[in-house]
Amino acid sequence: MIIVNCKAYREVEGAGALTIARACEAVAEETGAHLAICPPIVETSAVATAVKIPVLAQNVDPYAPGSATGWVTPAMVKACGCLGTLINHSEHKVPVKAVEECVELALGSNLITVVCADTVQTATAVAHCSPDFIAVEPPELIGGNVSVTAANPRIVESTVEAVKEVNHSIHVLCGAGVKTGRDVAAALDLGADGVLLASGVVKAKDPQQVLRDLVSGL
Ligand code: G3P
Repeated sequence: MIIVNCKAYREVEGAGALTIARACEAVAEETGAHLAICPPIVETSAVATAVKIPVLAQNVDPYAPGSATGWVTPAMVKACGCLGTLINHSEHKVPVKAVEECVELALGSNLITVVCADTVQTATAVAHCSPDFIAVEPPELIGGNVSVTAANPRIVESTVEAVKEVNHSIHVLCGAGVKTGRDVAAALDLGADGVLLASGVVKAKDPQQVLRDLVSGL
């Protein structure tokens, strides 16, 4: 599984998000690889309507439908065509209690949950919330050119170990600095089930070419 997080880069404002999503869709169709996209929240509906690959929200808030002005409920994310959601990204951290509430509400809306963790300790704590995926990303490597798999392979192995000890059915992803097929292959060798990445694709001159290379590591 390769999940491309668009974040809030200039490149994905307006129609840019759909361009990246279409590149992911084209490579998924071409190779049969599992690619998913996280557009900016305001573009999720447009992207989910236009592409067949899984679309995940970048975040949801722990609110049920109703009096929740400005918050993004799991139910509305589901209704606009998302298959799942990120929760607790390093750039959008919430307390473990809120992670638990988001996972529960997301489950009630049949959304796949990908909870991010910045350390092995956080990964262990959020594993008790039973998400579908946990993505470990050391914040200091995010957006950089050195992959977590090279800079800190131990955090990937330790997260896989710690998470599986709590709940064997949770899949583990890793991210931060992932840019190439070699990084993806290294992630799988370390026991991860895939990667979560952003800048390598979103800021690439030719996103499709980068995606093809990434997929070659699966
Ligand atoms: O959500 C993905 C992320 O935080 C990693 O970002 O740019 O290092 O691939 P990047």
